[in-house]
Amino acid sequence: MNTVSNTVMDVEYEQPQPDAVPVGGVCATKATKHAWARVPVEPGPIERTALKDKIRRLLKERKAVMVSHYYVHPDLQDLAEETGGIVSDSLEMARFGRDHPATTLLVSGVRFMGETSKILSPEKRVLMPDLDATCSLDLGCPIDEFSAFCDAHPDRTVVVYANTSAAVKARSDWLVTSSCAVDIVRALKDRGHKILWAPDRHLGAYVQRETGADMVMWGGSCIVHDEFKAFELAALKKEHPKAKVLVHPESPADVVALADAVGSTSGILKAAHEMDAKEFIVATDKGMMHKLRTLNPGKVFLEAPTAGNSATCKSCAHCPWMAMNGLADVARVLETGANEVHVDPALGLRARLPIDRMLAFTSALKGGRDAGSLVPLIGAA
Ligand code: 13P
Ligand code: SF4
Repeated sequence: MNTVSNTVMDVEYEQPQPDAVPVGGVCATKATKHAWARVPVEPGPIERTALKDKIRRLLKERKAVMVSHYYVHPDLQDLAEETGGIVSDSLEMARFGRDHPATTLLVSGVRFMGETSKILSPEKRVLMPDLDATCSLDLGCPIDEFSAFCDAHPDRTVVVYANTSAAVKARSDWLVTSSCAVDIVRALKDRGHKILWAPDRHLGAYVQRETGADMVMWGGSCIVHDEFKAFELAALKKEHPKAKVLVHPESPADVVALADAVGSTSGILKAAHEMDAKEFIVATDKGMMHKLRTLNPGKVFLEAPTAGNSATCKSCAHCPWMAMNGLADVARVLETGANEVHVDPALGLRARLPIDRMLAFTSALKGGRDAGSLVPLIGAA
């Protein structure tokens, strides 16, 4: 691998502070912090073919399966599917990894995805192409500050988004992903729960609007979705009046308000497939375009605008940490066993509780069973 030419980028993100009395329900005090991302060079065509062949061979030899997210490089999405693995949203990645008989999971995505897989399958070896691939939501919600926030609100049920560390998950009552957050919070509200939500303030606000639940929130954000701009999106809509707008709920409220469909990455894919339109404007990471385009060859997908009139984009609609996943590192970790994900077993056991609740709830929902009965009754809604 040509590591010399890898690009190292500076990435700015927000770290909210645990306000005991959040302004309008949201922690408003924030510090700007810096992280970095190391993006590998694209291999040339000959190296690319050789790396793919090597990965196919090593997956068999190591009894491994690939679990990829929709935002990683198209090569890693295609290889996962072609070799019997999966490309999916974060909820299905967790479920697939838990249920698959392989002894090694090769998770292409960001750190919390590998950790969730390890928590659910402590007996499996979980490898990642780059263990430093993180997420602004995870970084912006450190366990000590988050614990202080929870301690200030002991009467609230703690609902945490999957994009968090194992320690934050272990401090929670329920885990959610964007595909099930509304259903789970609605069930909690119906059974009398008041919610403490973390870390994404935009997803939290969307869930609050949809369910009417009583929520106080951590004020984190995704550096990719936070960039989408409503004014410019409205202008693009005018230029493409027949286009339908598909939005991931990590986007700001004024962007969500312009959506024809709001959903997780899988939800966006489903909406694009089912909606009777030829043209779509998509407000999510541009890694998603690969599947949208290959599964809908007759349809046109445009990227939603990320920068205002005078501003330039920072993430430019592509997560720098998802971009850290490359073919060369997949081959290397399969060959050497490097980059294994470890989670402290006691912490993992505690973090597993809210994840298991989410997986049981979503299975019941899918199977047409009464998922709400899995939520303990606290009082009248
Ligand atoms: P999904 O659960 O919708 O795949 O989202 C994960 C994520 O990180 C979005 O930014
Ligand atoms: Fe995190 Fe946003 Fe990247 Fe998803 S796209 S992993 S939420 S920073």
